[in-house]
Parts: sequence; C-alpha cells; structure tokens
Amino acid sequence: MKQIPPPNEQSESSVGENSQVLLEKEVQSRRNFAIISHPDAGKTTLTEKLLLYGGAIQQAGAVKARGEQRKVTSDWMELEKQRGISITSTVLQFAYSNNTINLLDTPGHQDFSEDTYRTLAAADNAVMLEDAAKGLEPQTRKLFEVCRMRKIPIFTFINKMDRPGQEPLSLIDEIEAELGLLTWPVNWPIGSGELFRGVIERNSKNVILFSRAGRGKQSDECHLRIDDPDLNSLVEKELLDKALEEIELLDAAGSEMDIELIHSGDLTPVFFGSAMTNFGVRPFLDQFLQMAQGPVARLSTNGPVNPVAPEFSGFVFKLQANMDPRHRDRVAFVRVCSGRFEKDMTVKHARTGKQIRLSRPQKIFAKDRAVVEDAYPGDVIGLNNPGMFAIGDTLYTGSKIEYEGIPCFSPEIFSWLRNPNPSAFKNFRKGVNELREEGAVQILYDKDQSKRDPILAAVGQLQLEVVQHRLEHEYGVSTLLEPMGFQVARWVDGGWSQLEEIGRIFNCKIVQDAWSRPVLLFKNDWNLNQLVEDHPDLVLSSVAPVVSGVEPITL
Ligand code: G4P
Repeated sequence: MKQIPPPNEQSESSVGENSQVLLEKEVQSRRNFAIISHPDAGKTTLTEKLLLYGGAIQQAGAVKARGEQRKVTSDWMELEKQRGISITSTVLQFAYSNNTINLLDTPGHQDFSEDTYRTLAAADNAVMLEDAAKGLEPQTRKLFEVCRMRKIPIFTFINKMDRPGQEPLSLIDEIEAELGLLTWPVNWPIGSGELFRGVIERNSKNVILFSRAGRGKQSDECHLRIDDPDLNSLVEKELLDKALEEIELLDAAGSEMDIELIHSGDLTPVFFGSAMTNFGVRPFLDQFLQMAQGPVARLSTNGPVNPVAPEFSGFVFKLQANMDPRHRDRVAFVRVCSGRFEKDMTVKHARTGKQIRLSRPQKIFAKDRAVVEDAYPGDVIGLNNPGMFAIGDTLYTGSKIEYEGIPCFSPEIFSWLRNPNPSAFKNFRKGVNELREEGAVQILYDKDQSKRDPILAAVGQLQLEVVQHRLEHEYGVSTLLEPMGFQVARWVDGGWSQLEEIGRIFNCKIVQDAWSRPVLLFKNDWNLNQLVEDHPDLVLSSVAPVVSGVEPITL
C-alpha cells in the first residue's frame, strides 16, 4: 500500500493528488434527492423517518411541529406559521451507512410548485411518494413531468400500506399506463390495511415482517427466508400465496431491473411501505442508496462538467429573503456541481464577471444554520446574498463556464399589482424587483410600457398572497391585487417578429416577461387551442427557455 507522507513532508503534487482522492471519495459517497408528492401523501412523515434513520433527529415528530417536540421545522416565515403550511424549500443533510445524503425538501403546498420545479433542477434523483389508496394525484403528475424533462431517476414509494388501499397491481399499472414509466417493484406487499403483514423482497426472496411501532419509534424488522417454517404461523397462508402469485406474474410479464434505465428516468423501482408505522423505510433507504445515481455531470457552455473535476463550480437554484427576520438577510442556495467548495474561497460570478469571496457559507438544516468549512458535488450551500445573485447564476473557479440555467414554468394565475400610495413607490419598486429576482413570483409587464403596473404571474393563489404579505411586512408597502381572469400562459418561440408576421390575434392578451419576450395570456385552454389551430406555424411553449447574459427589465 502506498504510504501517505505526513503533511509537512508532502510535496505539492502529492497534496494535489490527495485532495483529488478525497474529492472522488466524497463525490462517491454523495446521494441527493427531492420528494415529489401530492399534499397529504406523507412527505413530512417520510422525511422525518428518513432523518431518524440517519440520526439527524432523535425523535419522530420533530420535522412537523408538534407542540414542545418542535425542533426541526422549515416553517420560518410568519405566514407559514399562521397557515401551518410549509412554503419554502430547505435542504436536510444527514449521514447514513457511509453515505452523505442531501434531501432537498420542497414546499408541501401545491401553490408553491414553482419553487419545487427549481429545486428539482438541483436534484440528482426524485422520490415519488404515492398514497396507496389514492394512486397518482394531480400534483404528483405535474411534478413528474418536470422530472421527465430533466430525465432524473425516479424511485416510487407507495405509502400508507397499513390502510386499505388499491390493489398493488393496479397501482403499478397506473404508473406504467399514465406516466409511461416502466416499473420494477423491489418488494411486494403481503396483504394491506389491517392485514398488512410485510413485504417480500424480490431479489433475495426474504420476507420482512413488520410490527406496528408506536409513534416516534423505529419498528422492529424481522427478516425470514421465504421457506422458513415459522412463516406459516406468522402470516396467513392465503395472503402469502397471493403475494407469491403476483410476484410470479411480475417475473413473467413485468420489466426487468436495469440500472441504466433507472438512471435515464425510464424505469422506476417501486417500494411498498408505510412511513407512519415505519414499514419499509429502512429497506427503502438501503436500496435507494444502491440504485440512486450520485452527483452527475452537468451540462455547461463548455460541455458536461464532471463532478470530480478539480475546479469548483455550482449554480444558484433558489433565493430566499428574510429567512431570519431578525437579520433581514437574503440567502442564495447553491448546488455544488464540481470540485471542492471551501470557506473563504474566491470564485467568479459568471453573469457579471465579478470576483466574490465566499466568507460566510452556511449549511442550512431547516431553521438552524452552521458555517460550512467545505462542501462537495451534490451538496447545497447557502450564501448570504446582498442582491448579487439571481436564479440560474453560475459560480466557478478556473476557466469560465456557465450552467444551463433554470427555465420559467408556465404560471396559471395573473393579477395586476397596484401600489395605491405613490409616496411608497421606491419601496414598492425595491420589493417587486427583489421578489422577482428571488423567484417568489414571475413578473410580466404590459406590452405598452406606459402602463407601469407589473403583473404578478403565479402557479397558485397563495403564492400571490405571500408576495403581498411580504411586500407589506418586509418592504412596508400595502398593495392591491386586481385579478386579470387569465389561466394559461405561453411563450412565443419565434419572438416578436413572428407575432408581427401573424398580425392581429384574438382572445388572448400579449404581454412581455422580464426578458422582453412575448407571452400570450389566455382565459382557458379552449382559446389557446383555437389560436394554435388558426396559426399552425406559431410555436408556443409552456416552459420559457433560459436566458443568459441579458439583464432583466426592472420596475
Ligand atoms: P404531507 O407532508 O405529504 O402533506 O403529508 P404528512 O406527512 O403530513 O401526512 C399526512 C397525513 O397522513 C398525516 O396524518 C400522517 O400521519 C398520515 N400518514 C403519513 N404516512 C402514513 C402511513 O404510512 N400510514 C397512515 N395510516 N397514515 C400516514 P394527519 O392526521 O393529517 O396528521 P398527524 O396528526 O398524524 O400528524
């Protein structure tokens, strides 16, 4: 074995070699994922149980505030507290079985999907959580589409098996038929609801029997071979026979496990379990770590960037202002993509070309923060953001690169934002510009520049309320919202020149986005389809391409 010399005897090149070895080791140990689900499917519960296995929290019930148990919570904003909802995403890092896992938490409420879309841009894997009784639900389908766009591996956890649910085979069929994803059940349930007895692991043919753990406790897991004679006294014969028959059916007619198809986002491993009672959470985590992809090479202006490349690079995927109202700060969340990030390092900001010293990087664990000394690809760091960063910005050392950026997703609610008090215009302008930059809401502008009132464009009504609330409480301006009655937005791929060629168009309003691109607003899909039929050459997109190198319009 090669001896590593003590630090003071190391030559410069061996220091370089050692840090490269360390980088590779750290990258190999990293796994990151975001959970996509419909509200109530059990995301908070699953998160909590995963953190419990990772030792990041000592007691379940800590993620979701439960009276005195409240320790870890992402509800830092006043409105979140008032409504008891989780609006903003946080990052939870924990260690488990020699891995460092980053769980990119996403808002529970569907009105904040935009935030989730952006968080998915920083994720290498997604866990699709389904309620066994409800199957696929609207929010899950929407978020799935974003994962598909990015081709990220999806792991399906079918939750609440301790409750009566749909037939496992029909849940699998639904995923295949509706999402066009191949499925590979990693385990198969024995019974469900009151009669849920555990799962059979398909590869090992081990049976894992579960006992119902009390709230906050990890369940005892009892592993038996399928031919263990004790099984007959522990599980009803008909339940076991049914599960085995179904597995036979899957073996004969189902897809085969293929890690490449998993990594290309075409095949989803499926797990059955019950987060609340801890059924199947640990086996899920163990298998997930084996099958999930580590930090991947990301596309940049210089081609794909390997995570183990020695130079540091990363991109901003989320901005959050006033996370801690006592400090009135702004934090930029950066996904590290390559190299080692070190505290106090000086990086270049691709959009402006400026050099920045990152002196107070933070790791943010829900409400708590700690200064980070270093971070590796797959990690997320929080940087204090004095108005310098925008979503999609690239930071790097070495030769210039710029990552692809994060597209804007189609908003569904549009409202004029009025400032009834002209003397407050300065604050109004500052608030609108900063909240747009942060991505709290999209801002559109009338085509006619003389009408200066901005249009708030959001995915959900609550998103608008948050903006109004924040304008009032953080910037001191009371505003009025005037709904516009549109529900659909589309970007025009051919830009203004194509619109001019077409001439007058009906039943839609033409506005512009912050990058002066035309956006068409429609009252409904019917009007949109009508326009597409009348003008087959017009190419419309529901996702706006990323703009780089152009300063946005500000108020
Ligand atoms: P969300 O973050 O996706 O919105 O869901 P959350 O974890 O808050 O779970 C929604 C409800 O479903 C909670 O019940 C939770 O306890 C329950 N739940 C989660 N996983 C399971 C499971 O595996 N089995 C069963 N039976 N229930 C589950 P609640 O009554 O709304 O809240 P609480 O009083 O339990 O906190």
